[in-house]
Amino acid sequence: MAPLLSVKNLAFSYADRNFGPLGKKILKPVLHGISFKIEEGEIFGLVGASGAGKSTLGKCLLGLLDYTGDIFIDGIRQGPFLRPGQRKLLAARVQGVFQNPGAALNPVMPIGRLLDEAVRTSGVQDKTERGKRSDEILELVGLDSSVKKRRADELSSGQKQRVCIGCALSFRPRLIIADEAVSSLDVSAGAQILNLFSGLRERLGLALLFISHNLEAVHYLSDRVAVLEGGTLTGDGQDPPRLP
Ligand SMILES: Nc1ncnc2c1ncn2[C@@H]1O[C@H](COP(=O)(O)OP(=O)(O)O)[C@@H](O)[C@H]1O
Ligand SMILES: [Mg+2]
Repeated sequence: MAPLLSVKNLAFSYADRNFGPLGKKILKPVLHGISFKIEEGEIFGLVGASGAGKSTLGKCLLGLLDYTGDIFIDGIRQGPFLRPGQRKLLAARVQGVFQNPGAALNPVMPIGRLLDEAVRTSGVQDKTERGKRSDEILELVGLDSSVKKRRADELSSGQKQRVCIGCALSFRPRLIIADEAVSSLDVSAGAQILNLFSGLRERLGLALLFISHNLEAVHYLSDRVAVLEGGTLTGDGQDPPRLP
């Protein structure tokens, strides 16, 4: 069976703001020769220095950048710069959770409405059905249903990150790209989110690409760990080394 995610020889360069001689674009290579796989339900840790290209790799996997190389999900090749229909399919399989949950949520919208929007965007039209699904999601991310009436700016950072994870889950994804998802949280809230991810893997068989500069967190959570250095994964990338 095809792995959930398979990346083959992926490369990406940013175009520099300045142009070179004769108005030629200057490219700034960030990733090259990236190949790895993530199996169903696997937690794959990705570490690397700041600026190594971790977030760029995450954005390629979310179909947001014009990479070269191949990304397969369930054996189906994904193109960069997706059309709306393709994006919908990808969204149902891969979702992202990011560093700053405060910036990701409308601060004054009640959480109930926010979640309802996410569930509706995922394709559930029936209102009662949407309510049921929102309740399920709140339970999955460990929030009390009373949170529905509250606004994001009334919640703690840990609670906000749970709401973000809930919005991602509304699409029933099979893989979550968590890019520095605990880096802005204090130690105890961060630890709770790590445990939440681990629980979601147990309950839903969810796979995770856990991107972080925090080696301890990565090592605690991940089945396998890859290191991004000089634009490429160390080792052959097929079976990245475990950290000591
Ligand atoms: N939108 C952009 N335009 C140009 N260069 C960028 C852009 N985003 C990131 N970079 C550069 O690409 C490199 C990798 O960045 P990033 O993927 O954010 O690294 P990391 O997440 O590992 O810290 C860095 O040198 C960064 O400055
Ligand atoms: Mg980053």
